[in-house]
Amino acid sequence: MNIVIVKDYQELSQKSAEIVEDQILVKPDSVLGLATGSTPIGMYAELTEKYKAGLLSFENVKTFNLDEYCGLPTDNPQSYHYFMNQNLFSQVNIHPENTYLPNGNALVMEQERKAYDIKIAEAGGIDLQILGIGVDGHIGFNEPSDEFSKGTNVVELDKSTIEANSRFFEDKSQVPRTAITMGIESIMNARKILLLISGANKKEIAHLALQGEITPRVPASILQNHPDVTVIVDEDAWQLPV
Ligand code: F6R
Repeated sequence: MNIVIVKDYQELSQKSAEIVEDQILVKPDSVLGLATGSTPIGMYAELTEKYKAGLLSFENVKTFNLDEYCGLPTDNPQSYHYFMNQNLFSQVNIHPENTYLPNGNALVMEQERKAYDIKIAEAGGIDLQILGIGVDGHIGFNEPSDEFSKGTNVVELDKSTIEANSRFFEDKSQVPRTAITMGIESIMNARKILLLISGANKKEIAHLALQGEITPRVPASILQNHPDVTVIVDEDAWQLPV
């Protein structure tokens, strides 16, 4: 694991955008795995700047998002479809047909979760997977559990995740209780992984996930076993009190 400690959120956003930029420059038809949440917003803004400055093209890029809530219409501002359109897809020259998110409104979830894994495989697998981390150690929506999940699956969200994500909703009762997410195995299959950790509320979990025991009780800890992970963590999330 390559752990890069940066001063603040701005530097985290710049450095992570540079890594994505390098990936696309080396392989213009890269397959990117994308995350939502607050952490990557600055990175998406930096990528948008690079596109607008003519430094970067998404013409041949494909993207697969990690997850989506179940039961939210895609035009609901809290849906991850909406988030991605706002923060990246509508800002750059990516073709909408090259952007994939799991369908949280599929009639038959069992079919949707298998179909999503097949689409990733048909695209040739993920070249670079972007991840954030939940305060409980989740990646995607893979919550602490007795075993690491495999492919795309439907999950019940933990209380702490509902609590954390309620900041985006009018009140907690509106946060969906279930979501569809790429599994731990799907994430580990990515050729490269970029994990972003920002803010003092991630301090305990950052150390536990990166330096603690590898256990499904801390889903992100499995990343210690991946051969090509870069972690960008800001000082707020890394410095332990002296
Ligand atoms: C979002 C996702 C989640 C978030 C995590 C951290 O697509 O997969 O695992 O990365 O909940 O969210 P923030 O960045 O809002 O702290």
